[in-house]
Amino acid sequence: MQEEQGTLVMEAYLSSIEAEFSLSKQKLKELTNLFQEELENGLKRSDAILKALPTFVFNLPKGTEIGKFLTVDLGGTNLRIGLVELLGSGQFTIKKDSKVIPDGLKSGSGKEIFKFIAQNIETFLEHPEIEAELPLKLGFTFSFPVQQESLAHGTILGWSKEIEGKDVIGMDAVALLQESLHSLGLDIAVEALVNDTVGTLLAQIYRDDRTRMSVILGTGSNAAYVERCSQIPKLKGKFNNGRTVINIEWGSFGDGCSCTILPSTRFDRILDLESKNANYQRYEKMMSGMYLGEIFRLILVEAVNKEILITSSDLISKPYGIKTKDMSKFHAEFINENIENCKMIIKGKFGINIRSDAEVQMLSKLCEIISLRSCYLCAVGITAVHRHLLSWLSKEKIFSVALDGALYQKYPNYSKILQDLVCEMDMDGGAADACRVVLVMAEDLSSIGAAAAIAAQQFK
Ligand code: BGC
Repeated sequence: MQEEQGTLVMEAYLSSIEAEFSLSKQKLKELTNLFQEELENGLKRSDAILKALPTFVFNLPKGTEIGKFLTVDLGGTNLRIGLVELLGSGQFTIKKDSKVIPDGLKSGSGKEIFKFIAQNIETFLEHPEIEAELPLKLGFTFSFPVQQESLAHGTILGWSKEIEGKDVIGMDAVALLQESLHSLGLDIAVEALVNDTVGTLLAQIYRDDRTRMSVILGTGSNAAYVERCSQIPKLKGKFNNGRTVINIEWGSFGDGCSCTILPSTRFDRILDLESKNANYQRYEKMMSGMYLGEIFRLILVEAVNKEILITSSDLISKPYGIKTKDMSKFHAEFINENIENCKMIIKGKFGINIRSDAEVQMLSKLCEIISLRSCYLCAVGITAVHRHLLSWLSKEKIFSVALDGALYQKYPNYSKILQDLVCEMDMDGGAADACRVVLVMAEDLSSIGAAAAIAAQQFK
């Protein structure tokens, strides 16, 4: 009797959470229209909510470029260093190494981050398997908002993904890295600065020139796409011919006065307020890998406070104590019906004491609700960009989107659900007869794109 009552309370709680997180078709349409509007504002003005940053990549790779380049990719979690060889005909090789960025560095000075990169490059080049002779040209993938004035110059606008580094905001990311390299006596020239979305897009174009857009769904989230220079009024006609790449910095959608449009729940509001960049990157905070685990944790805290779940661990009281990758593993085990493994993860990684299988089911439903909303929000962004470009693309043409990031690659069913959603939205519930948006997995390619950015300038 008591157990039955407990199940009823749990079901009622779950339904209320589901109602808060679900998005109606009407809401999705509103969001898509607003996204398109904000993107078009971003192309006109530099103070718009979506920054729509010009990348100064004017020569898109053809796939024929060749050459050896050093690459560095600073993301929110890892630093990756590589020696890339572009072989032409869309082929390449890469020797690479990766290092987790220490937490102390993330909450410290930005200059130290650049020193850390240079030291790791030095160590990488000393490795016997890396047969590289200096001087080398370096392509720098920097996965944070940067205002570029040329391909090898970019002012840091701010950090995201819980990195602090305030001392370097307003400074040139290329000059910072270049100085750190020179102070170690390394004859390396930083020749291209690209966002990870831009690197992924260029690499996929190198392999397949039909690619038009890229999306990262990893620790953070963002997208880039190929735009006509004539459609970027803020370039003031300086580069009126041809095409370029726009780094949307879509994580800021819904910031500022349009914030009420985002379907934020009380959990999103707490997460935002307690984050290092409150009021910023709200769309990203509802969608990317850095935050889904934290949203889940905040719901668990509420469920424990309401005595729907119990805990004897302090794991859930620690901000960011639950990682999206563990949510993802748990959800995958649940889908594969490995309930015993689910229970181990719940105890070890979520700190919840499970009393019944119904509770396991409840937790998996919560994961589904949170990850599904992320998928819906991502589909909004992709659909809006596609609609913005529709008049340019011929109607029958496939709109190929390159996707990367651990959330997209690893979260169970994420990639399939996202493909179905963008098709449903593209076909407007059946109004069009075929889906033109094709999502392509572009795993770990952003360094290749940074190399291709340098090569494409040389081979134009
Ligand atoms: C950054 C973007 C980046 C994205 C994916 C966001 O937090 O602002 O520049 O592309 O994360 O890594």
